[in-house]
Amino acid sequence: MDDTLMRQYRAIGAMQAAISNAKTLDDALHESLKLIVEACKADMAVIWYPDKAGDGRLHPYYWIGSDDITSSSYAPGEGSIGGVFSDGKTLRLLDLGVAGTGGENAPVLESLVCAPLTGDRGILGCVEVSNRAGSRPLTDEDADTCEIMAMMAAISIEEGDLVQDRWQPGKAIMRLRGITREFQNGDQVTKVLKGVNLDVYEGEFLVLLGESGCGKSTLLNIIGGMDAATDGSFDFMGEDYSRADQKTLTEFRRHNIGFIFQSYNLMPNLNAKRNLQLIAELVDDPMDPDEALDVVGLSERKTSYPSQLSGGQQQRVSIARALVKRPKIILADEPTAALDYTTSIEVLSVMEKVVANGSTLVMVTHNEEITRMANRVVRMRNGQVYEVTVNRHRAPATDLVW
Ligand SMILES: Nc1ncnc2c1ncn2[C@@H]1O[C@H](COP(=O)(O)OP(=O)(O)OP(=O)(O)O)[C@@H](O)[C@H]1O
Ligand SMILES: [Mg+2]
Repeated sequence: MDDTLMRQYRAIGAMQAAISNAKTLDDALHESLKLIVEACKADMAVIWYPDKAGDGRLHPYYWIGSDDITSSSYAPGEGSIGGVFSDGKTLRLLDLGVAGTGGENAPVLESLVCAPLTGDRGILGCVEVSNRAGSRPLTDEDADTCEIMAMMAAISIEEGDLVQDRWQPGKAIMRLRGITREFQNGDQVTKVLKGVNLDVYEGEFLVLLGESGCGKSTLLNIIGGMDAATDGSFDFMGEDYSRADQKTLTEFRRHNIGFIFQSYNLMPNLNAKRNLQLIAELVDDPMDPDEALDVVGLSERKTSYPSQLSGGQQQRVSIARALVKRPKIILADEPTAALDYTTSIEVLSVMEKVVANGSTLVMVTHNEEITRMANRVVRMRNGQVYEVTVNRHRAPATDLVW
């Protein structure tokens, strides 16, 4: 048996196992996509699925790859993806040279395969795999593999009864493209971020996940204007901050960003309310500190000093302190890492409420379970975004177990 066939059989076997072991349909599809990428050695793979309850267009639910395509969508019949969805035939563009597939966020592709997710009830959606310009072009065998795997995924979708409703991204308030960050120590240059593409949508709960040292905090600091990128573009509410000087970044940070740190960073010699007032004095239209303390459930502890509060309570004060600014984006770097399980859930419940009240939250964590609370989960590896998942349902904090 030749290598290609072996590879296909192995991939199909792995896929069967992944689907039958998965606890939820989301997990099954997510795992399937990973296996498709592996089997086809592709740079990018996407599951496109129609939003039948909403606009009827095909939206990306899961994808692997470093481009942020959250807001891309195709009407049935529109473009390559919409075409496959309408006529149910696998599309093979194996030697494109260099071409895009349209859409503002679309990467420049070398080759693309799009296979329908065909089940007994018709065409459910489609799977796209592609390689970028400069990568190895996909082959006919890759296209066959993708087609078979899409068929298997379709069976599991039908069995799992994929619910149709989906989260709709709001307006993109921040756009990062090709963000790099290098650190120089003597003669040695370390490249920590290697071209991050990411949008932040108004009102979303975005969770950033990745192994220690992959660059999460570095990225969060750039998003928050605490640090500047070495290269790449950084656009916030239509303004370009890529080459902003320190003073501009300080202003940007003061008016637009709320920070929540793992270590709370409260002023020890000020009580809870005074900690908030200190921030309220810096901005134009602050939230009343009493109201912010009420949101986090600490109205009774206004006059307590940080040392008189538990870790969870201190973290809730620091959430309230972030709220006081009415920031456009709240950034939280491992806010529950220092807390025990019960206290973490309390703090996460407050985060959930903050998002429900309309805030935009970007939270870094190591904890896979916390991803269930998010609208979008962005996974980083080695200085790049490599996978994005859109959750169809957000789990309440009180459902999380670890
Ligand atoms: N100022 C700096 N100078 C040199 N190297 C740095 C600097 N800041 C960060 N790094 C390096 O960049 C890499 C990424 O760091 P970062 O703190 O962003 O990781 P992280 O994903 O947040 O990890 P963790 O989960 O452990 O918090 C690490 O290897 C770190 O040593
Ligand atoms: Mg970190």
